[in-house]
Amino acid sequence: MSKVKFFSGEQIPLEMHKVRIVQKLELPSVEKRLEYMQEAGNNTFLLRNKNVFMDMLTDSGVNAMSDRQQSAMLVADDSYAGSETFYRLEDKIREIFGTRFFLPTHQGRAAENVVARAFVRPNTIIPMNYHFTTTKAHICLNEGLIEEIIIDEGIKVTSNHPFKGNMDIDKLKDIIKKHGKEKVAFVRMEVGANLVGGQPFSLENLRDVRKVCDDNDLLLILDASLLSDNLYFIKEREEQCKSMSIREITRAIADLCHVIYFSARKLGFARGGGICTDNKDLYMKMRDYITLYEGFLTYGGMSVREMEALTVGLEETMDESIISQGPQFIAFMVEELIKKGVPVVTPPGGLGCHVDAMQFLDHVPQSEYPAGALAAALYIASGVRGMERGTMSEQRNPDGTEPLANMELLRLAMPRRVFTLSQVKYAIDRLAWLYENRRLVGGLKFVEEPETLRFFFGRLEATSDWQEKLAKKFREDFPDSL
Ligand code: F0G
Repeated sequence: MSKVKFFSGEQIPLEMHKVRIVQKLELPSVEKRLEYMQEAGNNTFLLRNKNVFMDMLTDSGVNAMSDRQQSAMLVADDSYAGSETFYRLEDKIREIFGTRFFLPTHQGRAAENVVARAFVRPNTIIPMNYHFTTTKAHICLNEGLIEEIIIDEGIKVTSNHPFKGNMDIDKLKDIIKKHGKEKVAFVRMEVGANLVGGQPFSLENLRDVRKVCDDNDLLLILDASLLSDNLYFIKEREEQCKSMSIREITRAIADLCHVIYFSARKLGFARGGGICTDNKDLYMKMRDYITLYEGFLTYGGMSVREMEALTVGLEETMDESIISQGPQFIAFMVEELIKKGVPVVTPPGGLGCHVDAMQFLDHVPQSEYPAGALAAALYIASGVRGMERGTMSEQRNPDGTEPLANMELLRLAMPRRVFTLSQVKYAIDRLAWLYENRRLVGGLKFVEEPETLRFFFGRLEATSDWQEKLAKKFREDFPDSL
């Protein structure tokens, strides 16, 4: 919680920034929300943002910029090659991560494309704490095989484990022993494991992973997209790191990894991405893909204005009072929902608040996408847009069968520095109402199902008229409320 203690004893996060530019929001009526959700094929990705009151779909590319970031954008050096803007960003990355080589990309998945092309070969294995959707897609495209070896606690919805994103070291050793180290393309660690609720790993665990990599001459590649929350959690929760600064923790993480890539739509309050390494050979293996797929080496598909914003945003990420805002707001939301009996992922992670749809809608079978149904229901009940992170987000197996996700989560992302606490309270209130009325919510079925990343464009319909009934109940309970 906030470092500021309240006389009242209340535990609330306190914003360490003020708002100096605002954007008007609209909250459509429940009747309109029902219409918009159905027009969008019950897929929150397909809603128009003008019809969304609180956009909690993602924290990607929607974090608020600071005054310093915006002013830096004005001095961006627009040139195809040799832009000063690139050198400023490269210097900042070298200062923070200690890596000599930086390859810019237009966003995180572009970095994944380059990493996968450079290092994944058909039938090689990539052990990782947990996959992310686009990571898996790129590895599969290059015919690699994923082995997820997060600790067992990682996929338990409720837990007291402070580092649910840790890798199971014994499982890593077993995989290497079973297949032989030649079959392992690299080991991937994801900070703030996204799909299990933004759960962090500990520095100690990363050290253990690196040791196994060293013993077997394997590369350790870090997905650092959700680094800022993980830094905060290491400082808060890892005993040996309490006296370290955020900068020192960052450096300790970076020193353990051969390659670091990230989405700058998450890390650094901007938009873009990149790959860093201190190893020239690894850099050379990836470099040509940047010019082929991204752009020249000094912009890589990013706008120079965003690159300037990123340079400042990375520096801001080293400031504890800035990066603590997200996890503190998330913890507030999680704890308030627990008080109201709503099932959520614990302990609170980064990225957002994750509601356990499997328990919330325990009457909806997994084959009818409870997390997707909950996302649709919440939009109808509130105008809040979340994201399904469950079976819909999984890819079908090559034989067409559908793997059921380990967890069915409704993710309510917390874009940094964007919402006020009263807006967060509104989302909590509407979720609590929905929980009271959960038996009204039914399932969904696909009516259009794309082959790759089906959750982006897939269209679904309700398995009954439950949505009309839900909207009607809302109107009865709130006769004159939006
Ligand atoms: N890796 C992780 C861990 C991510 O969370 C993301 C994006 C990416 C890679 C890909 O980056 O979007 O810049 O291409 N996550 C977003 C999300 C999309 O909403 O969680 P990108």
